[in-house]
Amino acid sequence: VTTIEEGDRAFCEFSGVIESDHQGYEGPGYANGVNSAGVKLTWAITLERAGNYPIAIRYANGSAEPRPARLAAGEQTAALDFSSTTAWAEWQSEQASLFLSAGVNIITLEALEAAGLANIDSISI
Ligand code: GCU
Repeated sequence: VTTIEEGDRAFCEFSGVIESDHQGYEGPGYANGVNSAGVKLTWAITLERAGNYPIAIRYANGSAEPRPARLAAGEQTAALDFSSTTAWAEWQSEQASLFLSAGVNIITLEALEAAGLANIDSISI
């Protein structure tokens, strides 16, 4: 498990590959998950203070259909659409807000449909 500090970005568990085929990602690559419902990306994020935090997830979805997913931290959940960005090299962000605790927060993003997750570049808190 990797823990990161407020302002950093990381992920710590994932079923898929780290890919760098499609331009426009930041850092060494992006997460291309297995195309299946229930696939999860998991981050461990350490915060100094509890509170409501805006969360942005940078992604690309070159398919025509949205790739809906559930973002969760403990009991808190938020629905995200991950609508088409029209090409795999076109990146956008979707935002949600979750109440997070002081200390380590395990945050998951779970695919709700058979196509799985969009390609995920980063989470920003
Ligand atoms: C293509 C694309 C991948 C993407 C995949 C998908 O294969 O190259 O980056 O993850 O489609 O449908 O999820």
